[in-house]
Amino acid sequence: GVESIIWVVAAYLIGSIAFGIIVSKLYRLPDPRSVGSGNIGATNVARSGKKSAAILTLLGDVFKGWLPVWLALHAGMLMDVVALVGLAVFLGHLYPIYHRFKGGKGVATALGVMIAFSGWLALSVVAVWLAVFLLSRISSLAALVAALLAPVIAWQFLSPYPVYVAVVVVMSAFLIIRHQSNIEKLLAGTESRFGKK
Ligand code: G3P
Repeated sequence: GVESIIWVVAAYLIGSIAFGIIVSKLYRLPDPRSVGSGNIGATNVARSGKKSAAILTLLGDVFKGWLPVWLALHAGMLMDVVALVGLAVFLGHLYPIYHRFKGGKGVATALGVMIAFSGWLALSVVAVWLAVFLLSRISSLAALVAALLAPVIAWQFLSPYPVYVAVVVVMSAFLIIRHQSNIEKLLAGTESRFGKK
């Protein structure tokens, strides 16, 4: 009904809020779209050297993914609507209405959606991301491996809710497609690495 449409549209508008751009502006850092990888996510904000700005970007983009899904669940919306709300907030981050539909790669926002779906799913996917990142020091490689495994992990924890598993599958597919430039750099051996301190 109309109520479901409002939920989905509101989720898309929330997803469109790009914390990387907002936080960089507040910190008077260069716009993340004009430096480094050009991406608006926490990884690229981290390249500015301001760790707290990167953490705020990460928290903001995770929080905005979690919030509408959690609200829809607690408002008692039907499972299919909750699933669409999750997909909408994720797509808002990728195609933000406030930034000419040029958005991010969706790693943090997908995590937020997954936290709302299942804490165990989110925790397991974070563990995969962290393991790959600590071994490689490459954020995109960690995201790609986590995205490849997320559907399998989702099936473990969410098999009674196949529509949520479907959302995880779709998010993983978009996420991998959005990492095309990273995949090219990984294959060429030129992807940027975070230095050990
Ligand atoms: O979160 C995106 C990350 O996986 C890659 O970001 O800036 O290295 O393209 P970036």
